[in-house]
Amino acid sequence: MKIIVKDSAADASAAVADMLLQQIGKKQDSVLGLPTGGTPLGVYARLREAYRNGQGSYKFLTTFNLDEYIGLSSNDPESYAAYMLENLFGHVNIDISRTHVPRGSALDAETEAARYESLIAAYGGIDLMLLGLGRNAHIGFNEPGSPHNSRTRRVALTQSTLDANAAYFPAGAVQPSHAITMGIGTILECRKIVVLATGQGKADAVAASVKGPPSEDVPGSALIRHADITIVLDRAAAANLDYAQTRELEA
Ligand code: PGA
Repeated sequence: MKIIVKDSAADASAAVADMLLQQIGKKQDSVLGLPTGGTPLGVYARLREAYRNGQGSYKFLTTFNLDEYIGLSSNDPESYAAYMLENLFGHVNIDISRTHVPRGSALDAETEAARYESLIAAYGGIDLMLLGLGRNAHIGFNEPGSPHNSRTRRVALTQSTLDANAAYFPAGAVQPSHAITMGIGTILECRKIVVLATGQGKADAVAASVKGPPSEDVPGSALIRHADITIVLDRAAAANLDYAQTRELEA
């Protein structure tokens, strides 16, 4: 496990954007796993800016998003499909038919989850997965209690997650209570994992995930087992890790 601590959230986002650019530069037909939420917005902004400056080609990429709300179609402005279009896909030369987000409007969420798993396998798995970390250390929508070998499936969101994401829903909009998420087992199969966490609100989740031991109560702690994981933090999110530990884990 490698931990990189940057002075600011902007610097951390820039470092992660560079890692993504490096990956797609090295392997043009990479399969990327992508997150939504507040944290990656700075990364996507950097990628858009880089693209405007001629850096990065998305032409041969395939992407798989981590999760989607059940009950929202991709046209719904609060859907994660719409988020991806607005923040990245609509701005770069990506082939939209190779950008995958679980279908939140599917009639049967479990069937959709199984289809999504098969699709990831059909593309040969994910080369690089970018993850955020929830305040309760969730990864994707794998809430505390999720088995570390879980697969893509229908899940209920916890109150902490509903509260954290309420701000993204305008007054009067119905906030979905369930989602389809890649499982922790699915995530652990990705060849490389990059986690970005910024802000003081994530400091406890970061410390619980990094310090271990792996526990189902702390979904992020499953990541300790992964052979190629880089955690990028700003100082605020790293506040509960001591310096010696950060140094040690940088190896
Ligand atoms: P946030 O969410 O980036 O909106 O804080 C992170 C997550 O829930 O994974």
